[in-house]
Amino acid sequence: MSKPDVVTNAIGGLEVPRHVAVIMDGNGRWAAARGLPRSEGHRRGVEALRRTVRAAGELGIGFLTIFSFSTENWSRPASEVRDLMGLLRRFIRNDLAELHRSGVRVRVIGEREGLDDDVRRLLEEAEELTRANTGLTLVVAFNYGARQEIARAARRMAELVAAGSLDPQSINADALARHLDAPDIPDPDLIIRTSGESRLSNFLLWQSAYSELIFVPTFWPDFDRNALESAIADFGRRERRFGGLTAKVGS
Ligand code: IPE
Ligand code: IPE
Ligand code: MG
Repeated sequence: MSKPDVVTNAIGGLEVPRHVAVIMDGNGRWAAARGLPRSEGHRRGVEALRRTVRAAGELGIGFLTIFSFSTENWSRPASEVRDLMGLLRRFIRNDLAELHRSGVRVRVIGEREGLDDDVRRLLEEAEELTRANTGLTLVVAFNYGARQEIARAARRMAELVAAGSLDPQSINADALARHLDAPDIPDPDLIIRTSGESRLSNFLLWQSAYSELIFVPTFWPDFDRNALESAIADFGRRERRFGGLTAKVGS
C-alpha cells in the first residue's frame, strides 16, 4: 500500500502526486481525424511520451507508469502489432542514453514470455543500464494485463506453498501485493486516461484501488506538459479518504 504520496513541487507550489500512471489512448483516432494512417498516430504518440517523461521529471513526480501495449492489443492486425513493437524498439534504442543521462530509472511490468527475443533483451538492457539511477522511475507496462499480473502473483505464491516455504494462512492482500510484478513501487495516486474513454482496460486493477481517476478528451499525441499540469491540479482538488471520514494525503 502506498505511503504519503504528495510532494509540494518547487515550481508554483503545485502538489504533485508521487505516482502518476497514464493510459496513452487515442493514437488511431488522432490519425484518422487527419486522414493519416494509424501508424502515424503511434509515431506522434512517442513524441508525446517524450514530452511527458521530461515534464514528469521536471515536476518532481517520483514514478510515471505508462501503458504501452496491453495483453489484449495482440488482437489487432499483425501489421499494427509490428508497428507498435518497432516503435518500442526504436524508443529504447534512440532514447535510452538520454533517459540514463537524465537519471531516469526504467522498470518494466508485464509478461516477458511471448515477446521477440530482441524486444526482451532491449527491455532488460533498459532496466539494467538505469538500475542505480535515482531520478524519475519510468515504469513501462508492456505486454501488460492486470488480471494476468494478479494470476502470476497467485501462481508464484502457490509455488512457494508447494515448496513448503509459504504458509497459506499468511496469504492476505499485503502478501499478494508483494508478488506482483513491481512490488516495491507504490500504488498510483493518479491515473490519467486520454482520448475520452472512461475505462481501465485491464490496467493496474489491483494497484488502482484508491487511485484518483482522470479522463481527458485529448488524444494521446496532443498530450503535453500543460495537460499533465492541469490533471495534477485537478488531482489536488480531490479529497482522498481511503475509506475513512476525513481527507488524507496517503494510506
Ligand atoms: C493507444 O492508441 C495506443 C495503444 C493502445 C497501443 P490506440 O491505438 O488505442 O488509438 P485509438 O484508441 O484506436 O484511437
Ligand atoms: C489501452 O488502450 C491499452 C493501451 C493504452 C496500451 P486500448 O485502446 O487497447 O483499450 P480499449 O480497447 O479501447 O479498451
Ligand atoms: Mg485505443
